[in-house]
Amino acid sequence: MNYSQSLIKARKYEEENGERVDPILRPLYHLTPYIGWMNDPNGFSWYNGYYHLFYQYYPFAKKWGPMHWGHAVSKDLLHWEFKPAALAPDTVPDEDGCFSGSAIELNDGRHLLLYTGVTEVSTDEYQRTLYSQIQCVAVGDGENYEKYDGNPVIDQTMIPSDTNSYDFRDPKIWKEADGTYRCVVANGVDKDFTHGRVLYFSSEDGFHWKYVSTLLENDGSMGKMWECPDFFELDGTYVMLMSPQDVLQTPRFNCGNQTICILGDFDEEAGKMIPKADMTVDYGIDFYATQTMLTPDGRRVMIAWMQNWDTIKYTEQSIPWLGMMTLPRELSIVNERLIQKPIREIEELRTHEVVYKHVVVGETLVLDAIRGRSLDLTIELYPESFGSYTKFEMRFAVDEHHYTSIVYRPRENRLEFDRSNSGTRVAVMHDRHFFVRNRNGQLKLRLLLDRYSSEVFINDGEQVMTNVLYTPLSADNIWFYCDGKVLMDVEKYELMDPAQKR
Ligand code: FRU
Repeated sequence: MNYSQSLIKARKYEEENGERVDPILRPLYHLTPYIGWMNDPNGFSWYNGYYHLFYQYYPFAKKWGPMHWGHAVSKDLLHWEFKPAALAPDTVPDEDGCFSGSAIELNDGRHLLLYTGVTEVSTDEYQRTLYSQIQCVAVGDGENYEKYDGNPVIDQTMIPSDTNSYDFRDPKIWKEADGTYRCVVANGVDKDFTHGRVLYFSSEDGFHWKYVSTLLENDGSMGKMWECPDFFELDGTYVMLMSPQDVLQTPRFNCGNQTICILGDFDEEAGKMIPKADMTVDYGIDFYATQTMLTPDGRRVMIAWMQNWDTIKYTEQSIPWLGMMTLPRELSIVNERLIQKPIREIEELRTHEVVYKHVVVGETLVLDAIRGRSLDLTIELYPESFGSYTKFEMRFAVDEHHYTSIVYRPRENRLEFDRSNSGTRVAVMHDRHFFVRNRNGQLKLRLLLDRYSSEVFINDGEQVMTNVLYTPLSADNIWFYCDGKVLMDVEKYELMDPAQKR
């Protein structure tokens, strides 16, 4: 295989500098970039006995730059091993970046990457760089990939004429039962970036594509451009995931960039999704650009970038990487809702179990051995009678100067998250609140803490809230408070370090 100068440069940089990233500065079980910057998950797939996860990558600095694809493999989605950078911007169709995309095993056994190649065109009146965006492929063996001579495989000549050619990206590929391929690609409807839609394509071989239809279009109620679409059938329902930019705050959705799930039917003949319900995928601040895959044992597993473009200034300068992935989550649909559970493999990392049953929480409570920053911690609240408390609070990553809090107000069914006291010095959003299902004061929270993040699964995955926190790691106390009286069960495990390595 011939490697371009750009790829050689990236791989050499990794080799010479990667070891500088002390593992103690990485989270235990969440993937971080080998070095430098990471954004969206890409090419999430099973190939040759391994899970492959690629990611938007700029190795040379902790900032977004001409996009490469970083690469890591794993047997269990927890023990990640870094591979050399897989793609660099080095051909005419992708000379300014290899944007997000996906991967699949071809019928002939090769691994196909389908991604967006970008070239800079101009700058608009707001000083935004406008890129021409087209879809390209590369094929490889799970480590080295060769770009296809016939790139691009999908370009603007194939799509509706009212398209915005600066927003045409993030192809997600899958294989049909008959061995043919389909993909969905995000597209901006007009030149003012006000609307997004998802286009649908088909191919016999993964290299020759034809436009089928507009699968779904934004009616203006869900942000502007839709990024990183995904489309699949789950438990008899069709699911679209996409990450809209610049959502307006409404009772249904929080403002900013986030991920929305649309459930509905699929009219295959017309190539149209018929939406029936929609919901926020994650109620926290740091969750974007999801991608899913089917595991060999048939689970639909989703991963996302654990970050928010709007709060990117909230990082810790002393950490030599920027960007983390979420823990992969198992998806299902129950009663027209997307249910998310941490992948079951995480239970293999559990150690040092501590259990408390029916502890009375009234005023402030600290429990022996309930502390730490890399934990799998479940708490369940049972009021003796409804109205026995109006506020429950849990604080974690606590020391004399810091804490992050979760507050539950049973009368309003309201859950609040606040990291303003986590050690931040930047004035960006640090809190969120939302409503949970009324269970008469009962509540179950499973918290997965991992040094710089917290993922909270509410009532067995009916809702999830993901937030990063850059509190010094020595702040590891946990503290409970109730303004009346509530009973609490606690189950805590420390998690073993799966040691991400090269
Ligand atoms: C989403 C995104 C994608 C794009 C990539 C570029 O976070 O904007 O739409 O492909 O990041 O890095």
